[in-house]
Amino acid sequence: MDTYEPHIYELSAPGKHGTNLPRLDVPEAALPTALLRQDGMNDFPELTEPEVMRHYTRISQRNASPDTMMYPLGSCTMKATPKLHEEVARYAGFAAVHPLQDESLSQGALQLMYELQDYLGEISGFEAVSLQPAAGAQGELTGILAFRAYHLDRGDPDRTEVLVPNAAHGTNPATAAMVGLKVVELKSDARGNVDMDDLRAKLSPRTAGMMLTNPNTLGLFEDQIVEICQLVHEAGGLMYGDGANFNAILGIAKPGKLGFDFMHYNLHKTFTTPHGGGGPGSGAVGCTAELAPFLPGPRVRQTASGSYELFTPEKSIGRMKAFHGNFAMLVRAWTYIRTLGAAGLREVSEIAVLNANYVRVKLKDLYPQAIDRICMHETVLRGQIAGAQGIRTLDIAKRLIDYGFHPPTVYFPLIVPEALMIEPTETEGKRTLDIFIQAMRDIAREAVETPDVLHDAPTTAPVRRLDEVRAARQPILRYNAEAFAQILNER
Ligand SMILES: Cc1ncc(COP(=O)(O)O)c(C=O)c1O
Repeated sequence: MDTYEPHIYELSAPGKHGTNLPRLDVPEAALPTALLRQDGMNDFPELTEPEVMRHYTRISQRNASPDTMMYPLGSCTMKATPKLHEEVARYAGFAAVHPLQDESLSQGALQLMYELQDYLGEISGFEAVSLQPAAGAQGELTGILAFRAYHLDRGDPDRTEVLVPNAAHGTNPATAAMVGLKVVELKSDARGNVDMDDLRAKLSPRTAGMMLTNPNTLGLFEDQIVEICQLVHEAGGLMYGDGANFNAILGIAKPGKLGFDFMHYNLHKTFTTPHGGGGPGSGAVGCTAELAPFLPGPRVRQTASGSYELFTPEKSIGRMKAFHGNFAMLVRAWTYIRTLGAAGLREVSEIAVLNANYVRVKLKDLYPQAIDRICMHETVLRGQIAGAQGIRTLDIAKRLIDYGFHPPTVYFPLIVPEALMIEPTETEGKRTLDIFIQAMRDIAREAVETPDVLHDAPTTAPVRRLDEVRAARQPILRYNAEAFAQILNER
């Protein structure tokens, strides 16, 4: 049953307060009347300390997060976010540094950025890195703008097509379209990889480049990757690597050495900076020496005297983000890399892949695999349970909430009917994976024996099944007494 909890505005009453200001210990100053606020204060609720405490504690408990549950949201890499990173990001030297502060006074922050550029380049095999973009999608935009600028710079303006596999994340074709280029879709073959014949047929003098996720969005390694890159290059195009799945190959394969020209790193996935709920991300990008002049600035370099300075590459596509990117995320990613070291990063990927395959093998008798192959860091299954009538993947996902798990990604990639994309990540231990697997097996049994239990799910969450279209299209973002009353009436 949904319980009604009064909103803080309903608890508000004139004169309530939760703080006692200390006695004035300086001479009282007379502020000019013109500077005193005359109105607007009534918009703030007046509450006692326990009321404020309960409000924030209650809403924090409604959050789903890797701090409260296993969060196997495929492609999103919701791994645990170490608390050490939070501590380091809060050091006054990082938290209080002002982006307009003179470079001579920001040497520590610039050194951190310089080292992070260097580490990311080393891990991925790229020559140059920019930490500007705020998300993977913005990294994609950066890359395709750089491709366009590169071709124009070489006097090759007719390269107007970007090849994108049909399994790609929606941000890939959206990016190409935003840059004003034409999206050419590529088929996948029966093994879940790029269809090589289709690729050969669609490459042409109009090809600006190709966007590819590897491992791809089916959680499978593109084992013809070297040939794919060669073919695109022979046609005069460039290879963009969507690095969303980089968590699977740290310390094992370097995209820059496989033939990619440009790639974004989702620091908020692979490098464990917190994300979700629209929080700040970081989609740093790396590229070859040939594309480095087009990177967005400012980047950081070391001078002959050993100090650090900002610079903008000569043919830069311009800024992608205010100031220096999401700096606090850079601090967290740097801390992660320094804590784990090269061997630790490789282990991350090895365990991520092992965990995904463990889940895959333990569930594939009940949930058919999209493609019957060993997977990388995530597995794509189908919510088509034998003998279950009228059950969809969405019902399975909602029922998982009742079992205490955040649902996996559903209905993506689009080419897999009833897709359930599970990414356990390396931060879950075997015991938790076993409990998750048991929950999935119990749900499969319920789907056959008591399907309404799934249709009614979730029953234990703060809210029941949402009208997701309405929640996305007509979100209520501010307290609104009438809208609240209407929702309660509709229940
Ligand atoms: C394969 C893939 N590419 C790109 C993106 C976009 O990344 P971001 O959400 O950081 O913009 C995602 C996000 O989940 C993804 O899964």
